[in-house]
Amino acid sequence: MNAAVRGVVRTALSRGVSVTGFYHGYDGILRDETVEMDSRSVGGIIALGGTVLRSARSDEFRTDAGLEKAHSNLKERGIDGLVVIGGDGSLAGALRLRETFQYPVNGVPGSIDNDISGTDFSVGFDTAVNTAVEAIDRVRDTAYSHERAFVIEVMGRLNGFIALEAGLAAGAEAVLIPEVPYRLEGIAELLRRSAAKGKKSCILVVAEGAARAEDVKVYLERHVGGDVRYLVLGHMQRGGTPTAFDRVLALRLGAHAVARLLDGFPGEMAGLVAGKLVSHPLSYVLSTERTMDPEKLALVDVMAQ
Ligand code: F6P
Repeated sequence: MNAAVRGVVRTALSRGVSVTGFYHGYDGILRDETVEMDSRSVGGIIALGGTVLRSARSDEFRTDAGLEKAHSNLKERGIDGLVVIGGDGSLAGALRLRETFQYPVNGVPGSIDNDISGTDFSVGFDTAVNTAVEAIDRVRDTAYSHERAFVIEVMGRLNGFIALEAGLAAGAEAVLIPEVPYRLEGIAELLRRSAAKGKKSCILVVAEGAARAEDVKVYLERHVGGDVRYLVLGHMQRGGTPTAFDRVLALRLGAHAVARLLDGFPGEMAGLVAGKLVSHPLSYVLSTERTMDPEKLALVDVMAQ
C-alpha cells in the first residue's frame, strides 16, 4: 500500500498538483484527518508493509448521511479528486462517490485476496502468497522429519486465491477453497491413498472461508489416524516487507490511477492485465466476479500424486 501511496503522490507532484492524504480511509475524510503530502512524506516508505496512512473499515461512510458528509468535506477542503486504494469495499465507496455526486475518483486495487476483477494482480497478493509459502516450507521440514500431516489455514474469507497459489507453490497435497465444494471424507481418502503409496507426510492448505484448520485436523485424526497438526497463518500474511513485484505493481497502479484522473478519466480502477496497464470502469470491476483458473485447480490434483 505504501508503494501505491508513493506512486500517487510523486506522479501528482510531478504534474504540479498538490496532494492531501487522508488517514484511516473514508473515516479520515469524515473526521478531517489529513496530512499534506510532499515528496519527502513518501520517502523511504516503499519497503514498509502496511500503510503509513493507516486503514479502517468505516460504518458511517456506508450510510447515505456519511456519504453526503464525506463529499461535502472533500469540497470544503478544496480536494478536486480522489484516489482510493483498497479492496472491494473501498472501491464500492469510490463508485458511490462517483455515481452520487459525479465526484472525480479513481481506484487502485489493494487486497491480499486478489479477488478484484479488471486486474490480474491486486496490491499485496504476491507478498501474502510468498509469506504463506515461506511459512509452509518451514512447516514441511517438520512434516517430513516427523512424518506428520499438517493442515495450514491461510486467509481468504470468500475466495481461495491465496490458498491455491500458495498450495501449488509449496507442493500441497490438497487445497480447500470456498469456491469448490469438497467432502472431508474425500481428503481422508486422499491421505489413506498417499500413505498406501508410501508417502509419510502431507500438507493440506485450507482457505479460512472453506474450513477451519482445526476442524479438518480433528476429522482426519478421527477418521485416518496418525499425528495431524494444524497452523493458522492469520494476519502475518498481511504484513512484512513487500516483494519487489508488489512494490513495482503498486507504484505503477498508483501512478496510472492518478494520471488517468488528471487526464480527465474518472470513475475507473487501474489494473494490470497480461503485463499491461489498463483502466476499467469501477462499475464494471464491481459487478464482475473474478473466477478461479480451472487449469491451476486441476494441477493441484495432478501434482499430489
Ligand atoms: O480482505 C482481506 C482479508 O485479509 C481476508 O482474507 C480476511 O478474512 C480478512 O481480510 C481479515 O480481516 P480482519 O483483519 O478485519 O480480520
